Amino acid sequence: MSMTSAEIRTAFLNFFAERGHQVVQSASLIPGNDATLLFTNAGMVPFKDVFLGTDKRNYTRATSSQRCVRAGGKHNDLENVGYTARHHTFFEMLGNFSFGDYFKREAIQYAWSFLTEELKLPKEKLWVTVFEEDDEAYDIWADEMGVPHDRISRIGAKDNFWQMGDTGPCGPCSEIFYDHGEEVWGGPPGTPEEDGDRYIEIWNLVFMQFNRQADGSMEPLPQPSVDTGMGLERIAAVLQHVHSNYETDTFVALIKAAAEAVGTDDLSAQSLRVIADHIRSCSFLIADGVLPSNEGRGYVLRRIIRRAVRHGSKLGANQAFFYKLVTELVNLMGEAFPELVGAQERIEKALLQEEQQFARTLQRGMSLLEEEVANLPENGTLAGDVAFKLYDTYGFPYDLTADILRERGFGLDQAGFDKAMAEQRARAQQASQFGADYNERLKSDVVSEFAGYSAYESESAIAEIFVNGDSVTELAAGEEGIVVLSSSPFYAESGGQVGDVGVFEVAGEPVYTVTDTQYIGKAIGHHGIADVTLKVGDSVLAVVDDERRWAIRRNHSATHLIHAALRNVLGEHVAQKGSLVNEQRLRFDFAHPKAVTSAELQAIEAQVNEQIRLNVPLTTDVLPIEEAKARGAMALFGEKYADDVRVVQMSDYSLELCGGTHVERTGDIGGFRIVAEAGIASGVRRIDAVTGAGAVAYNLAQQQKLMEAASLLKSDPAALADRIEQMLGKQKQLEKELAELQKQASAQAGASLIDQAQDIHGAKVIVAEVHNTEAKALREMVDDLKNRLGEGVVVLGLRQDEKVSLIAGVTKGLTNQVKAGELVNVAASLVGGKGGGRPDMAQAGGTEPENLEQALVETLAWLRANLA
Ligand code: ALA
Repeated sequence: MSMTSAEIRTAFLNFFAERGHQVVQSASLIPGNDATLLFTNAGMVPFKDVFLGTDKRNYTRATSSQRCVRAGGKHNDLENVGYTARHHTFFEMLGNFSFGDYFKREAIQYAWSFLTEELKLPKEKLWVTVFEEDDEAYDIWADEMGVPHDRISRIGAKDNFWQMGDTGPCGPCSEIFYDHGEEVWGGPPGTPEEDGDRYIEIWNLVFMQFNRQADGSMEPLPQPSVDTGMGLERIAAVLQHVHSNYETDTFVALIKAAAEAVGTDDLSAQSLRVIADHIRSCSFLIADGVLPSNEGRGYVLRRIIRRAVRHGSKLGANQAFFYKLVTELVNLMGEAFPELVGAQERIEKALLQEEQQFARTLQRGMSLLEEEVANLPENGTLAGDVAFKLYDTYGFPYDLTADILRERGFGLDQAGFDKAMAEQRARAQQASQFGADYNERLKSDVVSEFAGYSAYESESAIAEIFVNGDSVTELAAGEEGIVVLSSSPFYAESGGQVGDVGVFEVAGEPVYTVTDTQYIGKAIGHHGIADVTLKVGDSVLAVVDDERRWAIRRNHSATHLIHAALRNVLGEHVAQKGSLVNEQRLRFDFAHPKAVTSAELQAIEAQVNEQIRLNVPLTTDVLPIEEAKARGAMALFGEKYADDVRVVQMSDYSLELCGGTHVERTGDIGGFRIVAEAGIASGVRRIDAVTGAGAVAYNLAQQQKLMEAASLLKSDPAALADRIEQMLGKQKQLEKELAELQKQASAQAGASLIDQAQDIHGAKVIVAEVHNTEAKALREMVDDLKNRLGEGVVVLGLRQDEKVSLIAGVTKGLTNQVKAGELVNVAASLVGGKGGGRPDMAQAGGTEPENLEQALVETLAWLRANLA
């Protein structure tokens, strides 16, 4: 019998545990605190900071079986899945790691010993590669392990210099290959036939030595380290004597489940392999908190699900099937990954929902695609804008269209697709940046000029006046209305920033109080009350409340900083979902699958404050939208922007499209505090924060509370935590003592209750009120009394906090005469309650403690009548 995948996993972890390695549980697929990475794509990802020396563990050797996804990002295998024997979107990476402990020699020795001694693989089936300049590794393999020279190849950086991403830990590596035998096509590593399936890389030993910087340069790591990775699926294929990962135990079971779910008998269908692969990545991604969406990780997930669903429909599935595979997956992998078990229902629900939604669009999209394909010449290429229409209208991801075309021998114009995508975004963003209609009834053709970027006051003529939604020529003193100016320094609410308030003046006297500013089309409408009569055509000096505006500017600029900080700390998936900026606070809604931890919040707050201290100037530019995007400005998906857009930049930290008003230098923000973080919808979080004087006030209020608490405890803030800990310890101790005393008291009470037992027709009966005990102790008391009575009936009542607790116990021999449930209700009905339970034990509560005495008397009478 060959080893199962589960046995191989255990054997690997045990082998390294026996050699001083700490066994570490697989981390989430969503890398914590790493903005450089879409998914955990290698076993070393959770240890990145340990390699870099910025995180310390209490071990220097570790081993794990890490769940990995390689779809999207630097290591992306999605396109290959189903077309080779060994590529997956999801796989398990077995690894051993040394953090400045052992280096090349031991890493090679361990790997060789595990493969040839523990797993007993024939040495002549193994080939190795080393980085072309790495003589040391070459010599260890040749001289110490005795690998013949013709089975060691020196390979260049493309394959033998490993790095986790564009930045981060990296180093030369040495790979071990397994020869699946001459019946499989392919050549040894370094030959032109190496892409075949004969010689398969099974283990990669990385000698971590450097930290790749964003500019491409490499800094040495604090200590040379080791990171290795062996795909569990590949080694399982070797040990189970099959040539494809898809023929190993796990995949055979999943393929069988997939065949059943789609209703096909042909187990060799390539599409089944795709489905079997995809159910693993999709389920684990959902278990780790990703949900299908149109951006970031959610979009990758959506693409994988849709790819699976389409392969199902190719096999004839005519209803949702993908979600049905979760059960089998949980059977196969739930033991090694308990998080999967708990998430099963959630995964099934998310998959089913996505399948149903996709099925509807797939049908319509497919017929469009069929039409287009019918018109293509042989080997032709589908136009990018058609692929875009499929994406935009029918939800066909680009790679899905590409996949379908590839199967039929057609090409796809990617550049055309990208262009159509960019154009659509620009179109969609045109209207709203400077003007959502405030009120449907109001219509204005005026195009007001906004003069408020550089000034707080400006002279202008009244262009229009509205009262109750009607355009009028005059606003009487004391009357409420909306005044439109042809040019105004007042900011009308847009882009999340509230409208300005202030006054209009004539000859230094206030004539109109502005309480809010809103767009009416492209006209700036000032809502307010007239102090004197105003007429269309009058000239006024519009004066913004600059103190309030300053507070708004601080909050708006801080919003850009937090947006950037969130993406740095939580990852690129953080997309803005909404924002509110007023004079008191800023509120930022964003996509993120789980609560932001307090450590993450601290990191975000610290980054924003650092940018504030750096005091960099803000620059604004008006540019064509394409140029702004080319510079990397963050634009909101689905938001409409004009052809020319304003970009707001703070050094190279933040670049956003924005029409709002901002500070001059980041230092003007003055300080930043996060005051709340919460979820507001599935996958959407909200952060509230304050800046400037607001941040100072918040700090003071916090400090005040701390002082109050400290003074209550006669302590000082610095010692408060210790003091509380001490008190909690004391409280625990007292609770223990109290429980002990109560136990003694109930034992005593029990003893005295036994003395009160009366005989009714041969049965021993106790009906009594008890004191000084807890409702939850009653059960134990009754059990104890029943034991001591032999055959008998016990009814106890307890008054506590305006409530009554009742309990009745009947020993087994008497339950044919009285049932505890019935009995307890005799008393319960008299104290305003109702109860239930088993024939030998029942409980009830009541709300009329004043009637307890009477209730017990009646209970006794009832027992006299009912005990035979
Ligand atoms: N981190 C190395 C790899 O993924 C082991 O190949």
